[in-house]
Amino acid sequence: MKALILAGGAGTRLRPITHTSAKQLVPVANKPILFYGIEAMIAAGITQIGVIVGDTRVEVMEALGDGRQWGADFTFIAQDAPLGLAHCVLIAADFLGDDDFVMYLGDNLLEQDLGAFVRAFEQARTTDEPPTAQILLKRVPDPHRFGIAELDTAGNVVRLVEKPADPPSDLALVGVYLFDSTILEAVRAIAPSPRGELEITDAIQWLVDQGRRVRQEELTGWWIDTGKLTPLLEANRLLLERIETRLDGSVDDASIIDGRVVVEDGAVIKHSTLRGPLVIGTGTVIEHSFIGPFSAIGNGCEVRNSEVEHSVIMDGSRIIDIQRLEDSLIGKEAVVSRSQVRPRALRLMVGDHCQIDVE
Ligand code: TTP
Repeated sequence: MKALILAGGAGTRLRPITHTSAKQLVPVANKPILFYGIEAMIAAGITQIGVIVGDTRVEVMEALGDGRQWGADFTFIAQDAPLGLAHCVLIAADFLGDDDFVMYLGDNLLEQDLGAFVRAFEQARTTDEPPTAQILLKRVPDPHRFGIAELDTAGNVVRLVEKPADPPSDLALVGVYLFDSTILEAVRAIAPSPRGELEITDAIQWLVDQGRRVRQEELTGWWIDTGKLTPLLEANRLLLERIETRLDGSVDDASIIDGRVVVEDGAVIKHSTLRGPLVIGTGTVIEHSFIGPFSAIGNGCEVRNSEVEHSVIMDGSRIIDIQRLEDSLIGKEAVVSRSQVRPRALRLMVGDHCQIDVE
């Protein structure tokens, strides 16, 4: 079993962050989103991992390295333009060969263990009616926003529809798929959709139309497609829920620590209140500030005379004299400061290297 993780794409829904950075490398709970997917694969026993990279390839390749430190073997596959999820399979044909593989969208996060899902496919492949693909489904309240699966009474997939006006079910396709090599025939057979992409839903529908069995499993834990601000902050919140207190940095006597808080080595907390769950990165200085629940403050940041809550602040950024910053995503090495104090909360998505001065 191999894995194909998709870390290219345009990331238009996370601009301006994605003007300068890969969305898959935005940290949640101070770890890049992509790393959770890679770790899930390795935990499932898959070490031959193909990584689709796009315009942000240099950054992604640098962040992942060659795989040795993960105990895995990475093969980077460059995609010149984001021509669709099925296009990713097409260009990975040499890497995939005849092997079964799991395809994982690099900006998706799952609560549940990938291993059980992989083993269920492997087990089903030994039966009299082996599936050629397996999809993962999650019940959603707003099916018209997703790729939706229609099942027969035996639970096999009979139809897939992208963002249906009249949804046949509330079962959305989660960004994790298992395939045997028949999917290579499918991605070669289909034509681009009206939006100009080779759609994985069309490729799976092609398998169904050819009489192939497509198995499905319903996900019970949470699943988040982090491609937009609100779900990204939600992922950060859910992952921070799991942390345990660890105070490796320095916290002075005038500071208060309340709830589950991680202060990394080299961080300095002075005259501040930290109310978890939250995490403060290496070398970050927090002074005369309140950091509230569900905040993830990266490495080498500075927060002075400010209140921050339910936000992700990326490495090297500075928050100075901000009465209240909430539900925000601040890029790397950005500065948010104000010269006059006004009693108002700010809600921001700030790109890397920006400077925001609130007058
Ligand atoms: P999407 O979030 O569907 O697409 P996108 O990254 O282009 O984002 P947006 O819609 O905001 O412009 O992609 C899901 C994952 O697959 C994501 O990690 C990017 C990756 N991807 C590729 O690697 N190549 C592609 O051609 C596409 C469409 C996505």
